[in-house]
Formats: sequence, C-alpha cells, structure tokens
Amino acid sequence: MNIIIFGPPGVGKGTQANRLKERYNLLHLSTGDALRGEVKKGTELGLKAKEAMDKGRLVSDDIVVGIVVNAIGNVEDANGVMLDGFPRNISQAVTLDKVMEEKDLKIDYVISLEADRDIILKRLSGRRSCKDCGKDYNIFFSPPKVEGKCDECDGEIIGRSDDTEEVHLDRLKVYENQTESLKSYYREKGLLYKIDGMATVNEVFTNINKVLDGK
Ligand code: AP5
Repeated sequence: MNIIIFGPPGVGKGTQANRLKERYNLLHLSTGDALRGEVKKGTELGLKAKEAMDKGRLVSDDIVVGIVVNAIGNVEDANGVMLDGFPRNISQAVTLDKVMEEKDLKIDYVISLEADRDIILKRLSGRRSCKDCGKDYNIFFSPPKVEGKCDECDGEIIGRSDDTEEVHLDRLKVYENQTESLKSYYREKGLLYKIDGMATVNEVFTNINKVLDGK
C-alpha cells in the first residue's frame, strides 16, 4: 500500500504519519524532514534548500524529486511508502506518477487532512520539539511537564526556524497557490479521501484507519 498524506502546513500530516508508519509498516518519507536533515548536516543541497525553506517557499523540484526517487527504491521490508509533504505542485505529481509506473507501483490513497486557517495558525505557533531527542510538543495542545524541558531526556525545547508568524502566512499562501489544486488532480483519479483534521489526534487517526482498512 502506497499513500500520500496531504494538506496545508500545520494540519497534522507529520503527527499522523508517525502513527501510521507503525500501524501499517510503511516507509515514511517526509521531504521536509529530509531537507531539514540536509540543512543540519550542512551539505550543499541543505544550504540551497535552507534559503527557500526559511522564506516559506518551495525548494526547487530537482532537489526534492531527487530525494523522493532515491527513497522510493528503498522500501526494503516495509509494506509500502507513505509520502508526507510530497508532491506539492503539479510537476512533482506528474513526476511521481512516472517514477511509480517505472517501478510498477501505484499510489492507493491520498489522505487529505482539512482544517480551518485559525486552527492551523495556532498549531504552527505552538509547535516545539526537543533539541536532543526530537520528541514533539505543542505549547497549547501537548506541552512538556516543565516549561522548556523535555519530559523524556531533559533536553531543551526549541521551535522550527520556519515557525514564525510571517513565514506561516507565506507557507499558507504557497499551499493555496501551488499545492491545493492537487486535490482535483487526485480526485479525478478517484484517490482522494478527505479527513476532518480539526478533531483530536486520536480521532483523526481512527478516521484515517477506517479509510485505509476499508478498501
Ligand atoms: P514540511 O516540513 O513538509 O512542512 P509543512 O508541509 O509546512 O508541514 P508541517 O511540518 O509544518 O506541518 P504538519 O502538517 O506535518 O503538522 P504537524 O504534524 O507538525 O516542509 C517544510 C519546508 O520544506 C517547506 O516550506 C518547503 O520549503 C520545503 N519542502 C518540503 N517538501 C517540499 C516539496 N515537496 N517541494 C518543495 N519544497 C518542499 O502538526 C503541527 C502542530 O500541531 C504540532 O505541534 C502537532 O503536535 C499539532 N497537532 C497535530 N495534529 C493535532 C490535532 N489533531 N490536535 C491538536 N494539535 C495537533
């Protein structure tokens, strides 16, 4: 089973993907995480990507497609791949179709998480994680027990460099202008499943499970 977790920044794609990969044994490919990894390592690719990411713009297709193509060939023991944050424009979606076809694979489900703008902005502004172990927190919805300290390892709780109010608005604009239209692309292929992303994390997970278990 190969799936795409789709939706605007902050809707909960990463949160759900982390649970889904365990339940369905899927290879989780987050282009955002992969790019942040390159930035952290200080690679040439990371330096190129950082400039766009810090402004909330899309990183160039050739960089992102390269990451995805390499990973799709690497599913190993997993039951399939789960794409999170890819594709983000029509050109990426068409390339993905070609790559999947060449490997005799197909996308089975596109899970579209939907939420109102004010909820999304609140979630993004509250998002934090542990600098050392990476555990996720949200100061509004799932805060650490002691402010600024990780419950698991006592590490420092930090925000993402693109989680500023100005960049949130730019990222939402990029989503509306370049990414949202992909919903029609996948609806026409009969692959789009809309899920209410405003419910609790557990409820959203249950509703995605119903879709994935039902086909
Ligand atoms: P990326 O990392 O993919 O960011 P994004 O798509 O903007 O999504 P986010 O990670 O911000 O949000 P999310 O939907 O995963 O929400 P989360 O689960 O964290 O991309 C970053 C950048 O990389 C892009 O701007 C671009 O520059 C570049 N890039 C990436 N892919 C690219 C591509 N294909 N092409 C070109 N460039 C690309 O949840 C958010 C918060 O809400 C968390 O704190 C969470 O705890 C909380 N939360 C989640 N669900 C709930 C819930 N149900 N109730 C309460 N709180 C919740």
